[in-house]
Amino acid sequence: MFEYVTNNEEETKEFAKKIASKLKIGDVIVLSGELGSGKTKFTEGILTYFGLEQEISSPTFTIVNEYTSKNINIYHFDVYRLADIDEFYAIGGEEYFSKGICIIEWGEMIEEILPKNYIKIKFEKDTNNTNKRILKIETKEDRKN
Ligand SMILES: Nc1ncnc2c1ncn2[C@@H]1O[C@H](COP(=O)(O)OP(=O)(O)OP(=O)(O)O)[C@@H](O)[C@H]1O
Ligand SMILES: [Mg+2]
Repeated sequence: MFEYVTNNEEETKEFAKKIASKLKIGDVIVLSGELGSGKTKFTEGILTYFGLEQEISSPTFTIVNEYTSKNINIYHFDVYRLADIDEFYAIGGEEYFSKGICIIEWGEMIEEILPKNYIKIKFEKDTNNTNKRILKIETKEDRKN
């Protein structure tokens, strides 16, 4: 586990780009942390790295948004509104895992079906500084990169 502190939205996106450079097909990243903690901004940084820079729509009402480039598919999930894990199965959720890189906001809610080597990033707000975030990064298994 390691921590990374960001002091504004841009720093969170820059950090996401560094993480993105190490990602490959089949990787799953779970983003957790309270509303407005920066999970979607982090996702924007990942998309920018892969040349998929655009105003990203929040998948809050669609569960998953797909972004496709020549080299990679990125699947951005927000499972906050799922009633239970069966709803995730119902949309064929686990079939996405092998097809590209999956970024799953609130993914801890579907922990039992995630591949065991997923990457977890917890976003914490700072009570004294509105733009500070503490990111806690955890990998479930030793990764080669
Ligand atoms: N260090 C920072 N990193 C990321 N976002 C920041 C930071 N400081 C301030 N912000 C602001 O916090 C908000 C984060 O919003 P974002 O949509 O990324 O949150 P979220 O965690 O995805 O929330 P939700 O759970 O509702 O989807 C943005 O308005 C952003 O500008
Ligand atoms: Mg979000």
